[in-house]
Amino acid sequence: MQMTVLEVIKRSAEFLEKKGVDSPRLQVELLLAHVLHLPRMGLYLNFERVLSPAELDEVRNLVKRRGQREPLQHIIGTACFWGLEMKVNNQVLVPRPESEQLAELGWQFLNGIQGTPPLALDFGTGSGCLAILLAVKSPGARVVAVDISPEALAVAQENASRHSVQERVEFFQGDGFVAVPAGRRFDLLVSNPPYIPSAEIATLDPEVREHDPRWALDGGAEGLDFYRRLAREAGEFLRPGGRLMAEFGDGQAPAIRQIFEHEKWIVEAVKADYSGRERILVVRRAD
Ligand SMILES: C[S@@+](CC[C@H](N)C(=O)[O-])C[C@H]1O[C@@H](n2cnc3c(N)ncnc32)[C@H](O)[C@@H]1O
Repeated sequence: MQMTVLEVIKRSAEFLEKKGVDSPRLQVELLLAHVLHLPRMGLYLNFERVLSPAELDEVRNLVKRRGQREPLQHIIGTACFWGLEMKVNNQVLVPRPESEQLAELGWQFLNGIQGTPPLALDFGTGSGCLAILLAVKSPGARVVAVDISPEALAVAQENASRHSVQERVEFFQGDGFVAVPAGRRFDLLVSNPPYIPSAEIATLDPEVREHDPRWALDGGAEGLDFYRRLAREAGEFLRPGGRLMAEFGDGQAPAIRQIFEHEKWIVEAVKADYSGRERILVVRRAD
């Protein structure tokens, strides 16, 4: 059977809608653009183009996977983070737009440092998106990135090479600060740690609960375990004047502020994301 681009878009969007996928038409367009090696807008100039049998097979297969709620980014193998294409798979969290703001605060801080070349630590690097963006946007900086997952680090390393910052980003595997080479002290510590309360994971969309790695999501009973660890352990890894910037989940701001204040941190700011929700904590040690 022959089908045009427009027919494939319409039929597949109906199929994905029935499967409960958000923005079904957009999702189909992105999958189809991927298969046809066109920018998405290019589809609009090719509505009447007839797909070859091989193209049709490939699109059907990808749309079927999306209908089974596999994330679009896993299917096409990449996610866009502040305009940079990052390889992703089921071993890393798909980078979220909220985290772009954390990266931006981070590189602005690094770029304001005078004198010695700035050094940053990314705690729980996943795909490497934060570490790599810091290195790209702050060309004088060096970055250390740690993760407990060797599989995630393999992806992060590929992404660092893809964006030509592999000389300035070092990766270490291990449980939190244990992975940091002895004696290193940082101007900036960024982290988007796992922060979903364990019992809530089962209630998340299938794209997240079945495809993002559990160790990237699970923040313990209240979702706060990693903030407690950061508040207790991070101080000795900061250089004088350094900052810790951490992303957290919706509604967690009061608890997180309290955790850090209890460990004698000074809360410099709690930043909201573009939709007005508090999402990023900026703290420093008393001078
Ligand atoms: C929420 S993901 C964030 C990934 C990435 N930084 C981002 O923003 O997309 C948290 C990351 O922390 C890592 N992680 C979990 N437990 C860890 C631990 N004890 N030590 C180091 N990394 C850990 C996970 O493997 C995962 O890659």
